Amino acid sequence: MKTPRELKVKPIKNGTVIDHITANKSLNVLKILGLPNKDASVTIAMNVKSSQIFAKDIVKIEGRELESGEVDKIALISPYATINIVRDYEIVNKGKVKLTDNVKEILICPNPNCITNTAEPVKTKFKVIDRNPLLLRCYFCERIMNNKDLGTQFK
Ligand code: CTP
Ligand code: ZN
Repeated sequence: MKTPRELKVKPIKNGTVIDHITANKSLNVLKILGLPNKDASVTIAMNVKSSQIFAKDIVKIEGRELESGEVDKIALISPYATINIVRDYEIVNKGKVKLTDNVKEILICPNPNCITNTAEPVKTKFKVIDRNPLLLRCYFCERIMNNKDLGTQFK
């Protein structure tokens, strides 16, 4: 009997494939992208073997081409993710996510007394002060957030 080497997920016709997502982080990626919503058709593969040692997640979004602004936020939780733009089944663009110097809006400050956690209409903003390991600093209260804090601080 033939054993398939790899379980394939169906190719998409038009849209975006986010590949090489850190294993089991695809739900955070969807959250960052505001998915699921009523328009997008999304396929997720979690914890699939990508080589002998490594596992990864894959997210396929049919009918939506992501822009670099939204894609870069993914770097916070999945620094090695690749972004493939697909048109008529062909990959027309392959890119990598990159962590920008500032992270706006998508994170909540862990300091309960921070102005961004009050009724004031102030949007969160963090400066990336280190990349490996990741360290962020709140612009408003200077609270430092590390890699481990991040997981629970997404809006
Ligand atoms: N893909 C897809 N639909 C298409 C074309 C590609 O879902 N019409 C997916 C593939 O299944 C793969 C990703 O897009 O998960 C990247 O495709 P490809 O560049 O062909 O694969 P690799 O060469 O393995 O990618 P990389 O070089 O990034 O490792
Ligand atoms: Zn703060």
